[in-house]
Amino acid sequence: MVTNGEAAHPPGANRYIHPLRIRDLRLANNLCLAPMAGFTNLAFRLIAKEVGGCGLVATEMVAAIAQDQQGEAQAERFRVLTENLPEEKPLAMQVYGREPDRCARTAAALERAGADLIDLNCGCPVRKAKEAGCGVALMREPDQVGRIIAAMRAAVSRPVTAKIRLGANANERNAVEVALAACENGADAVFVHARTGESKHGVPVDLAGVAEVKQAISARWGDRIPVIANGSLDTAAAIRAAKDEAGADGYQIGRKACGDPWIFRNLIAELSGAAPHRPTPAERRTLLERHFDLILRLYGEYRGVRVMRKYTFFYCNGLPGVRRFRDQFCRITSRSDFAQVVDGFFSDLASGRINGQAEHLELFERHAEG
Ligand SMILES: Cc1cc2nc3c(=O)[nH]c(=O)nc-3n(C[C@H](O)[C@H](O)[C@H](O)COP(=O)(O)O)c2cc1C
Repeated sequence: MVTNGEAAHPPGANRYIHPLRIRDLRLANNLCLAPMAGFTNLAFRLIAKEVGGCGLVATEMVAAIAQDQQGEAQAERFRVLTENLPEEKPLAMQVYGREPDRCARTAAALERAGADLIDLNCGCPVRKAKEAGCGVALMREPDQVGRIIAAMRAAVSRPVTAKIRLGANANERNAVEVALAACENGADAVFVHARTGESKHGVPVDLAGVAEVKQAISARWGDRIPVIANGSLDTAAAIRAAKDEAGADGYQIGRKACGDPWIFRNLIAELSGAAPHRPTPAERRTLLERHFDLILRLYGEYRGVRVMRKYTFFYCNGLPGVRRFRDQFCRITSRSDFAQVVDGFFSDLASGRINGQAEHLELFERHAEG
């Protein structure tokens, strides 16, 4: 089993897939797992690293909380969000907030917790974030982004990055301004989600916007500050486009990695001219069970089975008969329910009792995009 991105990277770097340096952090390859609230926990990151061999994994965003509001519940949440293992390294952790002091303190706490890179969230589009002046609302305040990054930079020794969008909305596209403010104040790389804050998942990405950021950063800092593209980069063609049209130095992948952690090594294979690996239903089952095992260790049975429900969908998505099992996946409440439902689904599939067309569920309809 591959335990780090280095081993998954085939010899002979190519135009699209290659090692990447962010300040003093060396990534074995330039495929990164995107931060996803509710998804990129320790168990999932270990799977993404073991199976996919991506160069960098990420926690979900961690709120920068005022010191006087830090109680036991917050401490426990911080512990769960930041718990990590050497096998998944290098690991990015992300700060969500707007006050430079708080963000700096949180960045330092993340570094102490084991972060190899600390990112600032300038992309979360949910209403709560916008009303608090956080997430994508920061796209309207390049100077504030600069102040936050400067404070974080002063508080930690690991690389600091910003994850931005093309702008708050289609009429306020200012990714270049925000990216430059971040880099002038010490950001070591910029992740660019190639959509604005009002674009939903289905909206095509705009690589021209990423190209503008790349050109502006290269003009000032050459290749020293990488620009990593994000947004539906889940096929070899999309990765080629991100490089050829936008000059992206790396690629960050989110939703597609859920239930398909093979995506990283498959993209590496395809872009190196090798055949991708198409996991069989039996392989999906084995990985689903391993994932559940890790989740149980992380969360215990009560919470673990609830966390696991959504992943069960993901691993079964695209297989015939998944719609019929959807309700059962939703109602799993114990370890034995999980074993029974998963066994029922995969046994029926193997015996031919389920057959027919591949069926696809809409997996992220209820999730806000960060
Ligand atoms: C459920 C969910 C949670 C997310 N949480 C975060 C987050 O915590 N921080 C962040 O910067 N982006 C977050 N995002 C956005 C992703 O990092 C990524 O930018 C987005 O999904 C587009 O990439 P993709 O098309 O590869 O999924 C989230 C997205 C989803 C779907």
